[in-house]
Amino acid sequence: MNIVTVNKWRRVFNAPSLSNNQDISDLLPGDDPKIEVALAAAGFNGTLHVVDTSKEALARLTGSLDDEINRYRLNPREYTIKSSYENVTSGAIPPSDYIAGNHIIDDLLSYEFCRRNGLDPNNLAKDVKFSREVWDAVCNDTQTTLHNMPQAVFDNALSSLNPGGIVALASYESRFEREHGFGHETQLCKGLFIGLREYGRSLPYLIDKSDFISSVVKPDAWRSEHWIAFQKSA
Ligand SMILES: C[S@@+](CC[C@H](N)C(=O)[O-])C[C@H]1O[C@@H](n2cnc3c(N)ncnc32)[C@H](O)[C@@H]1O
Repeated sequence: MNIVTVNKWRRVFNAPSLSNNQDISDLLPGDDPKIEVALAAAGFNGTLHVVDTSKEALARLTGSLDDEINRYRLNPREYTIKSSYENVTSGAIPPSDYIAGNHIIDDLLSYEFCRRNGLDPNNLAKDVKFSREVWDAVCNDTQTTLHNMPQAVFDNALSSLNPGGIVALASYESRFEREHGFGHETQLCKGLFIGLREYGRSLPYLIDKSDFISSVVKPDAWRSEHWIAFQKSA
C-alpha cells in the first residue's frame, strides 16, 4: 500500500465536496487497497462499490482491507463495501455520487491490449520483459481504438454519476515505471490523462474542479503527478 497516495486521497475525501452516506465507486482498485484505506481514514460511512473484472483481485482486496486499516492504526471502517465485476469500458458501473480512480489509464490500456492479443495480463506486474513488450506495442498502437479507451470509460462513468456527483482521477509515474525505465508508458498515460481533462472541460454539463483538487493534494512534479475532477450539474 502506498501511504503517500492514501493520504492524498484522504485529503480529497475530507474536502468539502464530499459528505458521508453516499455511494462511491472505485474503478480498477486491483488487490492493493488505497482509496479503500483513505475512505476509512476520512470517516466515510456510506457504500463503496469496488469495480474490477477480477474476482480474485477483489477477494484479496476485501479480504485484507480491515487488517490494512488496523495496520495503520486507523479507526475501524464504518462503510459498507460491495464488489462489482463489470468491465468499466461498457459495463454498468453502480449509480454513484462519487467516482474515483487511482492510476487507472495504464491498466485500462495494457489489460485491453492483452485481452485483444490473447496475452495473460497477470504477467504485467511480475515480468518486466513481458511488460516492456506490451508497452512498446501499446505506445505504437495508433491504428486501433486502444488509445480511445480512457475517454470511453470516462463517458461510461459519467453516465453512472448521479446529478451533482463528482468524478476524481489521479495519474502519476509509478515506482515500477520509474525503476524499470518505462518513460514511454508514463508519457502516453500522461498525454491521455491531460486529454481527458480537456475533454471534460468541453462538456457543458460538467463543472471543472481540477484546480480545486490540485490545491488540495499538491501534486508532486517529480513523479509527473496530475489530478482531474469534475462535478456533474445538478
Ligand atoms: C494493477 S491493478 C490496479 C491498481 C490501481 N489502479 C492502482 O494502481 O492504484 C489492475 C486491475 O485493473 C483491472 N482491470 C483492467 N481493465 C479493466 C476494465 N476494463 N474494467 C474493470 N477492471 C479492469 C484488472 O482486473 C486488475 O485487477
